[in-house]
Amino acid sequence: MRPILSAERVQKRFGAFTAVDDVSFDVAEGEFLTFLGPSGCGKTTMLRMIAGFEAVSSGRMLLDGADMSRVPAYRRPVGMVFQNLALFPHMSVFENVAFGLSVERQPRDRIHQRVGQSLELVDLAGYGDRMVHQLSGGQRQRVALARSLVIEPRILLLDEPLGALDLKLRRQLQTELRTLQQRTGTTFIFVTHDQEEAMSMSDRIAVFNAGKIEQIAPPSEVYTRPSSVFVADFVGESNVLKGCSRGGRIEVEALGTALGDPEHRSDGQQVWVSVRGENLRLSPAEDSDVPGCAKVEMLEYAGLHAKAHLSVGQADARLTAIIAPSEAEILSVGSRVRLEVREYVVLTH
Ligand SMILES: Nc1ncnc2c1ncn2[C@@H]1O[C@H](COP(=O)(O)OP(=O)(O)OP(=O)(O)O)[C@@H](O)[C@H]1O
Ligand SMILES: [Mg+2]
Repeated sequence: MRPILSAERVQKRFGAFTAVDDVSFDVAEGEFLTFLGPSGCGKTTMLRMIAGFEAVSSGRMLLDGADMSRVPAYRRPVGMVFQNLALFPHMSVFENVAFGLSVERQPRDRIHQRVGQSLELVDLAGYGDRMVHQLSGGQRQRVALARSLVIEPRILLLDEPLGALDLKLRRQLQTELRTLQQRTGTTFIFVTHDQEEAMSMSDRIAVFNAGKIEQIAPPSEVYTRPSSVFVADFVGESNVLKGCSRGGRIEVEALGTALGDPEHRSDGQQVWVSVRGENLRLSPAEDSDVPGCAKVEMLEYAGLHAKAHLSVGQADARLTAIIAPSEAEILSVGSRVRLEVREYVVLTH
């Protein structure tokens, strides 16, 4: 099936600075794609180029296979919910949502009907007459959503729409957004720097770093098979450890052991090994100053699991293990443990 949107080697330069650097990706119709990455990595700039608020410096953006470079923003079938929520404070909820349709000079009946449907979609039927300042943060966020859905965009761009909300409301709106997206079948491109949010909502995640996409894949793949040290480090609780290839295995000083290398690299190659916190198994040990052993420096409880922060004296390394609270109970600060690695990924960059 032809993608609804394709970015082909897109670049955005602001003077000498390159904000988006040679980025290519396809979005399927009806997909929920998330741009995930730290502050300043180019997520908003990428969205603004899709919306047409910003011209691409080089490369092409295609909609249904057709080049969009000469299509102005207002003629693109794209809606956007902005990072800094831009509701009109002096207008009612109804007027805010109707704004896009009024600009299009649609008939009044039609406007009423579509605003009504849109408010219903976001669970705010009956709120049309309220003023924006009479709403909670979560309700305002939903008005912003209704306002961009009312024009029935084929692609909805959402720039950190939940960023300002408290955790509980954020979780609730995450579920609502996902349900809404599935119900309307609209293609969503969602921006966040919260990896848990990206994991729980998306069909695919594009991990951005310094203007480039490091990896684009379904959440489970980004999590279990990160393609680079950056992705491994940014997504989830990872221990990224230096390793060196020898005799077809990877020697990892911090673990005091050599791990199998599916790729049998040549001797002396420097690599990194990423071990998720939950893939480190701990068992009691006599001594922490021998290879493969560590000392518990701190224990942290976080509801369903606990975190053990470990130091490996021999390798001067720090590790974090995620363990069951019952396992944490038999440990204490200063406990000595033996390390066992269940799963890991070998990375070269
Ligand atoms: N109009 C502009 N002129 C010059 N530089 C810009 C402009 N817009 C963005 N930048 C720069 O481009 C880079 C990417 O900015 P962008 O807003 O896309 O980041 P972001 O990933 O959305 O970050 P955040 O998570 O903080 O919103 C930043 O270094 C920013 O300072
Ligand atoms: Mg941004």
